[in-house]
Amino acid sequence: MMILSLCLIISLSNTILGIASPARHLCHPYQKDALLEFKNEFHYNVMAGKTESWRNNTDCCSWKGISCDPMTGNVVELDLQDSFLNGPLRSNSSLFRLQHLRTLDLGLNNLTGILPASISNLKYLRILTLYSCNLFGKIPSSLGNLSYLTDLDLSVNDFNGELPGSVGSLNRLTELRLVSANISGNFPPALLNLSELTWIDLRSNNLSKLVYFEISGNSFSGSVPPSLFMIPTLVDLDLGRNDFTGPLEIGNISSSPSRLRVLYLGENNFNGPVPRSLSKLVSLVSLDLSFWNTRKGKVDFSIFLHLKSLKLLHLSNMNTKNMVDLSLLSHLMSLGDLDLSGINLKIDPTLNLPSPIKFLALSSCGIAEFPKFIQSQTRLIYLDISANQIGGQVPAWLWKLPVLWYVNVSQNSFNGFEGSEDVIQKSAKVMLDISSNTFQNPFPLLPASLMHFSCSDNRFSGEISREICKLVYLDTLVLSNNNFNGSIPRCFENFSTTLSVLNLRNNSISGVFPEESIGVYLRSLDVGHNKISGELPKSLINCSRLEFLNVEDNMFSDKFPFWLRSLPNLQILVLRSNKFHGKIFSLIFPKLRIFDISRNLFTGVLPSDYFAGWSAMSSDVGIVDSTPVRILGRGSGFYHSLTNLQSLDLSQNRLSGEIPPELGKLTFLARMNFSYNMLEGPIPQGTQIQSQNSSSFAENPGLCGFPLEKTCGGKEEEATKQEEDEDEEKEEKDQVLSWISAAIGYVPGVLGGLTIGHILYSYKYGWFLRIFHCFT
Ligand SMILES: *[C@@H]1O[C@H](CO)[C@@H](O)[C@H](O)[C@H]1NC(C)=O
Ligand SMILES: *[C@@H]1O[C@H](CO)[C@@H](O)[C@H](O)[C@H]1NC(C)=O
Ligand SMILES: *[C@@H]1O[C@H](CO)[C@@H](O)[C@H](O)[C@H]1NC(C)=O
Ligand SMILES: *[C@@H]1O[C@H](CO)[C@@H](O)[C@H](O)[C@H]1NC(C)=O
Ligand SMILES: *[C@@H]1O[C@H](CO)[C@@H](O)[C@H](O)[C@H]1NC(C)=O
Ligand SMILES: *[C@@H]1O[C@H](CO)[C@@H](O)[C@H](O)[C@H]1NC(C)=O
Ligand SMILES: *[C@@H]1O[C@H](CO)[C@@H](O)[C@H](O)[C@H]1NC(C)=O
Ligand SMILES: *[C@@H]1O[C@H](CO)[C@@H](O)[C@H](O)[C@H]1NC(C)=O
Ligand SMILES: *[C@@H]1O[C@H](CO)[C@@H](O)[C@H](O)[C@H]1NC(C)=O
Ligand SMILES: *[C@@H]1O[C@H](CO)[C@@H](O)[C@H](O)[C@H]1NC(C)=O
Ligand SMILES: *[C@@H]1O[C@H](CO)[C@@H](O)[C@H](O)[C@H]1NC(C)=O
Ligand SMILES: *[C@@H]1O[C@H](CO)[C@@H](O)[C@H](O)[C@H]1NC(C)=O
Repeated sequence: MMILSLCLIISLSNTILGIASPARHLCHPYQKDALLEFKNEFHYNVMAGKTESWRNNTDCCSWKGISCDPMTGNVVELDLQDSFLNGPLRSNSSLFRLQHLRTLDLGLNNLTGILPASISNLKYLRILTLYSCNLFGKIPSSLGNLSYLTDLDLSVNDFNGELPGSVGSLNRLTELRLVSANISGNFPPALLNLSELTWIDLRSNNLSKLVYFEISGNSFSGSVPPSLFMIPTLVDLDLGRNDFTGPLEIGNISSSPSRLRVLYLGENNFNGPVPRSLSKLVSLVSLDLSFWNTRKGKVDFSIFLHLKSLKLLHLSNMNTKNMVDLSLLSHLMSLGDLDLSGINLKIDPTLNLPSPIKFLALSSCGIAEFPKFIQSQTRLIYLDISANQIGGQVPAWLWKLPVLWYVNVSQNSFNGFEGSEDVIQKSAKVMLDISSNTFQNPFPLLPASLMHFSCSDNRFSGEISREICKLVYLDTLVLSNNNFNGSIPRCFENFSTTLSVLNLRNNSISGVFPEESIGVYLRSLDVGHNKISGELPKSLINCSRLEFLNVEDNMFSDKFPFWLRSLPNLQILVLRSNKFHGKIFSLIFPKLRIFDISRNLFTGVLPSDYFAGWSAMSSDVGIVDSTPVRILGRGSGFYHSLTNLQSLDLSQNRLSGEIPPELGKLTFLARMNFSYNMLEGPIPQGTQIQSQNSSSFAENPGLCGFPLEKTCGGKEEEATKQEEDEDEEKEEKDQVLSWISAAIGYVPGVLGGLTIGHILYSYKYGWFLRIFHCFT
């Protein structure tokens, strides 16, 4: 009762207000006339439906099926769905005088006739529904002028011919429904231009020539219309690498045999069970469902057994927990390309897959024994059995497979190689990744054809085998996290014209860095965590492609390598924990993003003017990973996760002078560390700098002011004044310490990239605070 009376009061007051301000609520007379005339354009066989309430002496905004804009009083919505309208929509219909219409729904009426081109007069239309209206003839191309249109439904009509290409200019369209509209001819390629489109329903038409539908690698989202699978002529449907979501409906395919040969749905966000009706797509040759989220459900492999023509089957990372017996696939006689990574596999030792496989990826499949069926796969080119639990020795027969060139056995428990010493050398491998196992000496003899070799995280020891120098095609060499000792072989010069990635990180390598081992094509050089002494090799100056240089935690004893500034692509330079000394100056690195010089013996003062420009820095994104170099895009997850890790670390050097007040203004620096230097004077004011823990300033005998307990006795204010006087001293300072400006254009994304390589490691161990990086 309460609610009812409340409603009554509200509607009463509305009526009263309505009378009080008629201008706002009465419809415009010309629009009322247009509506009344429109009503009279039709015959009403039985009754007049909604239009029955339309009377000349009432406010048309109060009529059934009408909505007006409360501010302007214009008729903006006309909903006459199922209103017994009989008769054609004439091209001079008074409907087209309702210029302000945003929604027009004439669905389920008998408008027997054509859809007049003058529909485009209603140029503000957002929603147009002419569902089941007995319309025929051509769909007018003037529809393309309705530039605000978001929803178009022309389903269940008897149109003639194709969908006009002008529909491709409806770039706000999100939903397009043309079910049973007798559309024929080509699938309108213009639709592929509509980036907002989340719903296309083209069921039951007469589209005859759609053969290829490839929109892979875009950002299409929403669900995939089942109608796509109903297009009888479709041969190639590639929706891979988009953001399509939801369970997939394939509809009832049994009516006519599908011609679909290629179906790529991989790397989207599909979820739910794999549709059983896939098994009806009997012409399929290539099927990619990778990264389909089955929500830990079961994948019924029998679905695929009907697809006898399959040559390519990619089912990796389907988030399924069930164990799949690989022998099921022995029915697929043409299979040549199989990726089941991430699926728990049962592989019988006697299994024999009859079809010759060229590409086989069985990473993270819970495999505990080297799959023997591979031995008879003599056409195998690519084998990835990484991230399993296979122990013991890598079988000798593997290297006898004649065309195998990519072998990835990383992240297992292998401890050696079966067979003679030169068993690998005699094969023609190009890529060999044996990292993260328990391999130990003897170091294998490698084939001269090798371009990529990684044995990181194993137990190899002793001097680096000079045999490696025979690999004159080597592009990537990763020996990190072993126990190699001795010096870097001079004969590395043998691949100095091919090598782009060299990673010797975390071994016990000593001696000086031989100049001749530096190749001009180097993009990434990481020798961090070794015992290398002497100077940085000056031949680095020839590495114009160098992006990543990390020599942290060695015994390099050298002046600041300002000459590296001539490397146009250098983005990350890490010199921390060495014996670099002297002043740091003249640094204008064109692309430097990360610059870590902490824990050295640098001396000198901090010039204030180099901080001033920092907040204006900006740059495009380039993310570098140490091994191998990878440039990742902005969309990378790392980029987002770590943007607030912004710190400046100058700790553990012998820097003197005062901390420049400008540093207090750099709001993007979340953390700073000035500890263990010889800095003096007041700590500058500024929220960022004052919010630091006092330990960030510790062990600088002359520093004073908050957050330290030691007060300066009024010197804090002086610090601000000093800032103003500094212009005079500028000249002098240009010659000293411009190292701060080296941090040009630091980008958060780069930090993300470093994560992958080694800073993640640092991060994990809480060292990130000591890394000097500067951001925009
Ligand atoms: C509505 O009434 C007005 C005035 O009474 C008249 O001028 C107008 O022609 C009428 N409109 C229709 C469509 O009957
Ligand atoms: C639809 O309209 C056409 C012509 O205007 C008429 O011949 C037909 O009988 C109508 N159909 C219905 C179901 O009213
Ligand atoms: C609209 O055109 C038809 C012919 O197509 C004509 O009979 C009718 O009088 C016209 N109506 C108006 C309002 O001009
Ligand atoms: C769309 O509008 C433009 C300009 O208003 C006009 O020249 C063109 O003919 C219209 N296109 C169609 C298909 O009606
Ligand atoms: C459907 O379209 C075809 C070709 O465009 C045409 O020949 C046929 O008459 C249309 N069917 C109907 C019921 O209008
Ligand atoms: C898609 O849009 C581009 C640029 O807007 C245009 O050049 C191209 O012709 C359009 N393609 C189709 C099929 O309409
Ligand atoms: C489909 O289109 C073809 C011509 O493209 C036509 O011959 C055939 O009659 C149409 N089928 C239907 C059901 O309209
Ligand atoms: C699928 O189509 C077949 C024959 O065309 C029909 O017998 C069956 O009932 C349909 N199934 C569904 C779920 O519509
Ligand atoms: C080998 O496999 C591991 C784990 O799947 C992967 O991280 C690595 O990138 C692969 N190595 C190469 C060289 O492709
Ligand atoms: C290098 O390692 C080997 C084996 O671990 C050891 O025998 C040798 O003494 C080491 N050489 C040096 C210089 O440390
Ligand atoms: C360097 O490569 C050449 C072949 O190009 C080879 O003969 C030589 O033995 C290699 N040097 C070493 C130290 O392996
Ligand atoms: C160095 O490698 C060893 C394995 O050889 C590993 O245990 C250790 O954590 C690594 N240390 C660093 C700093 O990467």
